[in-house]
Amino acid sequence: PDERTLVLIKPDAVRRGLVGEIISRFERKGLQIDAMVSRSMDAALADEHYSEHVEKPFYPPLKAFMTSGPLVALVLSGDQVIGVVRGMIGATDGRKAAAGTIRGDLALSNRENLVHASDSADSAKREIALWFPDLG
Ligand code: CMP
Repeated sequence: PDERTLVLIKPDAVRRGLVGEIISRFERKGLQIDAMVSRSMDAALADEHYSEHVEKPFYPPLKAFMTSGPLVALVLSGDQVIGVVRGMIGATDGRKAAAGTIRGDLALSNRENLVHASDSADSAKREIALWFPDLG
């Protein structure tokens, strides 16, 4: 059976008008959009979503950035979608991400890096439940 993963198209991507470009890449890859919503992250959701990072020095500016405006949350499904999407988005730092990846082609920052995607089956399960509690 296909896996599912959670993707956030971050506020920088919304501000830069890159939502369509990013969703197009996932669609062209053959992934399925199971759920999608435009909304904002508030402080409580940020702390929950990034629970493993709340003590890190980069967290306060990350939280400020992630709560700075609307984002688009999606659940994608497909064969090995968790690893496939991580490969498509590229390394965290847009300055180091490989060309051909979303961050490598479109981002130039370690923080404002356009997209988040679940990094494991456990985090996908946790993050999908957090963002889409109604999804079975
Ligand atoms: P994301 O995949 O959403 O997971 C954690 C986020 O924290 C990451 O993307 C970046 O936006 C941000 N991040 C991770 N490491 C750093 C860092 N060293 N400096 C600034 N931001 C970071």
